Amino acid sequence: MMNPVIEAIHKRRSIRSYESKPIPRDVINAILEAGNQAPSRGREMNGDFKFQPWRFVVVEDPTFKQKLVQTTLPIWKKMTESIGETHPELYKNIVKLYEALPEPKDMVYYSAPVILFVIGPASFAVSCALACENIMIAATSLGLGSCYVGFGMMVKGNAEIVQGLELTDDERIYGPIVLGYPKDDPKVRFMDQHESYVEPKIKWI
Ligand SMILES: Cc1cc2nc3c(=O)[nH]c(=O)nc-3n(C[C@H](O)[C@H](O)[C@H](O)COP(=O)(O)O)c2cc1C
Repeated sequence: MMNPVIEAIHKRRSIRSYESKPIPRDVINAILEAGNQAPSRGREMNGDFKFQPWRFVVVEDPTFKQKLVQTTLPIWKKMTESIGETHPELYKNIVKLYEALPEPKDMVYYSAPVILFVIGPASFAVSCALACENIMIAATSLGLGSCYVGFGMMVKGNAEIVQGLELTDDERIYGPIVLGYPKDDPKVRFMDQHESYVEPKIKWI
């Protein structure tokens, strides 16, 4: 059974190669509005009961992006090196992906034109993750590629970035999600799709 929503859900894949073409602001706003429509747990705020616990920071500025890369890349390198010993096949795919990247090789955010930080309270992980998925499905439906970059949340050690994102102590980064027009079809993967994909586990009662 198919309709445009299910089609977008099936079509979404993590994209790791992007055109440098900027994303129009109205497109980004439509994607963020879709994120904002996600279900969320309510919370008490100044005597009121409020929903939508997340906020969004859209990074387009090349200097800020460079700071993000410089901060995250050493962490990425350290973690990736250890994969070589435990998961050689996965490591081989990461090297393949790295070799396919254009210079300067940005192995964390894939030189995407937009790095989108979804930020929310640490105790609202489920709600914020639902917003992230809405964002990625909406992006797919508008012809954009996306990738949830868990490595990109490891920026709390950089005071300038923390200040730029206006991160408070009780907040957490979800994503970030990189967005952009896909450069080619997403055939270069961390793992071969057919080997790593697990069919739905379903029990009917
Ligand atoms: C919590 C989380 C963290 C992830 N972190 C990264 C990451 O740091 N870098 C990356 O390239 N992909 C990352 N991904 C994307 C996964 O690798 C990807 O979703 C998975 O391989 C399935 O492929 P698909 O998204 O194309 O279906 C992450 C996904 C999730 C949900």
